[in-house]
Amino acid sequence: MRLAVIGCGYVGLVTGSCLAEAGHDVVATDNDLARIATLNAGRLPIYETGLDGVMERARAAGRLRFTTDCAEAVGAAEAIFICVGTPPLESGEADLSAIDNVAQQIAAVTRSPKLVIEKSTVPAQTGEQLRRALNVYGRDAGGSFFRVASNPEFLREGTAVGDFFHPDRIVIGVEDQESERQLREIYRPILEGRFHCPVHQPACPAGRATAFLVTTIASAELIKHASNSFLGLKIAYANVLADLCERLGGDVEEVTRAMGMDPRIGPQFLNAGLGFGGFCLPKDIQAFNRLAERHGVDFTLLKETERINKCRIDQLMEKVRKALWVVKEKKIGVLGLAFKPNTDDVRFAPAIEVVRRLQAERAVVRATDPVAIEKARAVLPGIEFIEDPYRVARGADALLLLTEWAEYRQLDWKRICKEMARPLLIDARNMLSPAEMKALGFEYDCFGRPDLSVRTTLVTA
Ligand code: UDX
Repeated sequence: MRLAVIGCGYVGLVTGSCLAEAGHDVVATDNDLARIATLNAGRLPIYETGLDGVMERARAAGRLRFTTDCAEAVGAAEAIFICVGTPPLESGEADLSAIDNVAQQIAAVTRSPKLVIEKSTVPAQTGEQLRRALNVYGRDAGGSFFRVASNPEFLREGTAVGDFFHPDRIVIGVEDQESERQLREIYRPILEGRFHCPVHQPACPAGRATAFLVTTIASAELIKHASNSFLGLKIAYANVLADLCERLGGDVEEVTRAMGMDPRIGPQFLNAGLGFGGFCLPKDIQAFNRLAERHGVDFTLLKETERINKCRIDQLMEKVRKALWVVKEKKIGVLGLAFKPNTDDVRFAPAIEVVRRLQAERAVVRATDPVAIEKARAVLPGIEFIEDPYRVARGADALLLLTEWAEYRQLDWKRICKEMARPLLIDARNMLSPAEMKALGFEYDCFGRPDLSVRTTLVTA
């Protein structure tokens, strides 16, 4: 099918490239000229595992093109995916101006019937507004050309390509049979496994069949916000448990591990630490809460989730102050800047906020990250960035581990301990073993995990 993708950010690039890999003809557009120039030069403006290969194959096969001209992208398309940003406004509500803008552009250039699909995360009832805007601005073209659908994405940054090809569920919110038919057609290659999987070679493992859910547009919109908010809620719950464990001497990992064995709870998203960040969870929780407020529904639960999450940074700073006594002029090394591993995204990253707070307290910060240094440099002036984590640790009074990159587990911690002026390690992601770190000579702190080596009985599975 001929498809247009409007917006070449994380969601648009993954969606466009993967749908082209699946056999569709995709033209993607963005109003950021530099971004399109980068893409046309065969480079990716973001870091996303496996996306470069998918994009390259699709471009080589002539199924994926990039243009700055929205009319060119939209003109021949049978269906259009809107993948523009919906950043938070000051009020916490989603800023829908980019969606409104795109609706006007589509309406201005369309002369044949089209399905317009919301892929961007939007509050419930946006579909209705979108349809109205399209039909009002497109009235000169002579009639209601537009059908609207919602098709929320559940892509995690870092594993987005794998998530696209192997989704747990595909949700489509539609109002008519033709839209459902078209969306089924668009996703047929994914459901039937007809694509070259960049994640699994030589073949994808046999797994569960993907659920294809057809709902109303409002339900589809709600499913996205409800899912992300619930994930944030789970993390916040684990974080409060960690605080309780610190007071009572329990170990949050033992508690959440046992909790997660109950299939009604599940083991994921119960890792305590510095809390959640990124461009989705924090803003989606805020927007969902504001949406509830606006419609007279008390969702204090979400307000609390937001508050608990913000407090994680205060709590880390409290640990830093308590250990260092005076923070001013202390040399502090920071390991990890991205909001989570396997991405260079630093938007709403807890690590970035921690560095800002350290700067405000006049600490001397040196920071590293396997891939996010360039993005962090743009938002953290006055910080020394060093690629080598050992050099970050050298001569430091404290080292803070802020992003759970797997490679940090493999570091030569003995060497790091020796190189530091004071071997103070605060593991804000609960990645390392308290007993091992203490045995190496570190003053080690984390969230809600005592040193298990001091226990008299330890039963392991
Ligand atoms: C999220 C959703 O998971 C995805 O389905 C949606 O479509 C987009 O938003 P993403 O923003 O990539 O994906 O991040 P996610 O993997 O959900 O992690 C969010 C944050 O939570 C990260 O900062 C991570 O470090 C933190 N986290 C995650 C925890 O603190 N504890 C956990 O147990 C899990």
